[in-house]
Amino acid sequence: MEVIIKQGQEQASLLGARIVRNVIERWRPAVLGLATGATPLRLYAELVRMHREEGLSFRDVVTFNLDEYCGLSPDHPASYHAVMCKALFDHVDVAQDATHLPDGNATNVPEACAAYEQLIREAGGIRLQLLGIGHDGHIAFNEPGSSLASRTRIKTLMNDTLHANAGAFGGVEQVPRHAITMGLGTIMEAETCLLLAFGKSKAHAVRGMIEGPVSASCPSSILQHHPKTIVILDHEAASLLEHRQYYLDAYASKPEWQRFE
Ligand code: F6R
Repeated sequence: MEVIIKQGQEQASLLGARIVRNVIERWRPAVLGLATGATPLRLYAELVRMHREEGLSFRDVVTFNLDEYCGLSPDHPASYHAVMCKALFDHVDVAQDATHLPDGNATNVPEACAAYEQLIREAGGIRLQLLGIGHDGHIAFNEPGSSLASRTRIKTLMNDTLHANAGAFGGVEQVPRHAITMGLGTIMEAETCLLLAFGKSKAHAVRGMIEGPVSASCPSSILQHHPKTIVILDHEAASLLEHRQYYLDAYASKPEWQRFE
């Protein structure tokens, strides 16, 4: 894993946006895996700015989101479909039929999940998968105990996750209990994974992911087996890392062309 520690969330998000931009400019089509939640919002805002002010085009971009709640219509304001439109899709020139999210209203869920995986394969696979991390170490909605080889499927959300997402629903009781999520095996097939994490509340999960044993108890730790994962942290999220100083020194000593800046 390449661990990059930036001063704060702002610097980390801008660096993340530059990495996404490199992929968009290099590949036709550029197949991006996208995440929701609070973490990538600043990165998306920077991509929108790049589109408006610097002409970054999303015409050849194809997107697949990690997950979607079950039982919400796509226009429900807290659905991940609506969240993505508001944060990114409505503000750039991506084709509507090039953006994909799992179907949280599918009547035949296993079939819909298999079809989602098939669509990813037909697009040529994901070049860059953007990820956040939950307090319990989840990525996408792969909660602790998820098979490390899991594929896209329905998952029951843990209490911690329901509480973490309650704000968007006006209370924990309103948060759907189930979601369709890419599996850990699905995520591991992305060519590059780019995970961002900010704040003290993520420090424990970040340590488990980077320095803990690879275990279904901390699902993100599977990324230790991924050949190309970049983790961008702010100082708080990095605060429990045993080898924090090493990561800082190693990144600072890289030649400029390897630093994505
Ligand atoms: C959302 C997702 C989740 C979030 C994680 C962190 O698509 O896949 O794994 O990335 O729950 O959420 P935030 O960013 O809100 O702290």
